[in-house]
Amino acid sequence: MKYETVTILIAFGLVAAAPAPKAKNVFSIPRAMLRGREVPQEHSHNRFLDGVRANLALNNPAGIVDPVFGLLGDAAAAAGAGTITNLECLHQATADQAFTNAKAAGNITGQADALMYAALERNTGKVGLASVSCNETAVNPEIQAVQQHQDPASANAASINKAIVLALAQQLASIGADPQEALLSGTFAPGSVDDTTGAGNTCDVADDVEGCIFTQNLLVDDATADEITAAVAGISSGSAASASSAAPTAAAAPTTTDTASEDSCPAPVTVTVSAPASTPAATEAATPTGDNVQTFTGDLGGPPPPVTSSAGDRPFTVNGNTFVNIGAAIQRSCSIQNNACADASNAGTLAGVSVAQCQTQEDACNAAGGVQ
Ligand SMILES: *[C@@H]1O[C@H](CO)[C@@H](O)[C@H](O)[C@H]1NC(C)=O
Ligand SMILES: *[C@@H]1O[C@H](CO)[C@@H](O)[C@H](O)[C@H]1NC(C)=O
Repeated sequence: MKYETVTILIAFGLVAAAPAPKAKNVFSIPRAMLRGREVPQEHSHNRFLDGVRANLALNNPAGIVDPVFGLLGDAAAAAGAGTITNLECLHQATADQAFTNAKAAGNITGQADALMYAALERNTGKVGLASVSCNETAVNPEIQAVQQHQDPASANAASINKAIVLALAQQLASIGADPQEALLSGTFAPGSVDDTTGAGNTCDVADDVEGCIFTQNLLVDDATADEITAAVAGISSGSAASASSAAPTAAAAPTTTDTASEDSCPAPVTVTVSAPASTPAATEAATPTGDNVQTFTGDLGGPPPPVTSSAGDRPFTVNGNTFVNIGAAIQRSCSIQNNACADASNAGTLAGVSVAQCQTQEDACNAAGGVQ
């Protein structure tokens, strides 16, 4: 653990190449606001922050100051959260808004960058401490399906982070981006929990445009290319934009680091999740009157929550959330089922069920509801 004074450079708009331009704003976060952290690393994957920054700027109703704040601990994050008050959800809210904007613009690279950013590790109080998961539901099911990486020195991090990368790869595939890019959201080699210097194996260079984890070759792969290929089997781009398959920022998946120890995929994982592992439908039973129009019968990890249909401007309801269109409601219901299934799979409570099978189930659920 280490206390650092972090200087956050905020360049509005895209950071140009070549000599780092003078930052338009430099915020020095007062020392008193900083928590001790694993070690500084919020700039380690700068290329994805840049992509999110560009797309967030298109429409930013919450006034989020910069994507970097979503990767900081709560006290420091508060300085850049705009009107977002649940700081544990600033990371997700930032990714969600950027994804929404990029999707509206038909920008696959922008959507991919938002997904990658959503999977980046967030700073926590000390080496080995996992970060808290956001307890709110993202607007975009793609963002909802992606969790942040956990401190590589925290319990079961190798298998947790592997599951995160595979889930991310599936979402990338579903939007027509390159699923192998998911590996680039990885983190560093674990630091020692006993390391009093907190030096760890990290880096944090604000003006490294690409991201110092790449330029300093510090990235540890969470999965193999083959595992990613297997995880995305059968997933095709649901978006019309697959034609521009853009293979956008593809910087060939790094394959240098040998992660044999992680490939052995240790047993059960304790993930901090807000959703109950088993019967999600049972949770919010305070169902309003109306017919259940969710007809899908698959129940890996529990049945999908009901989609009730009644009168009004927003006639469809899923777990208390209302929707104008049945398609969006079905999609939400299927997504909730997928999350519960993936959480249970990760937690080892669904023997023999892989996260990929949960995703396949979600596709079938959407198809059954007529959602493409
Ligand atoms: C799409 O988003 C990326 C960042 O993710 C940005 O660099 C690019 O300029 C955007 N494309 C368009 C056409 O706006
Ligand atoms: C989510 O977490 C925040 C912060 O811990 C808390 O204030 C809020 O009540 C929680 N919301 C739900 C729906 O659990």
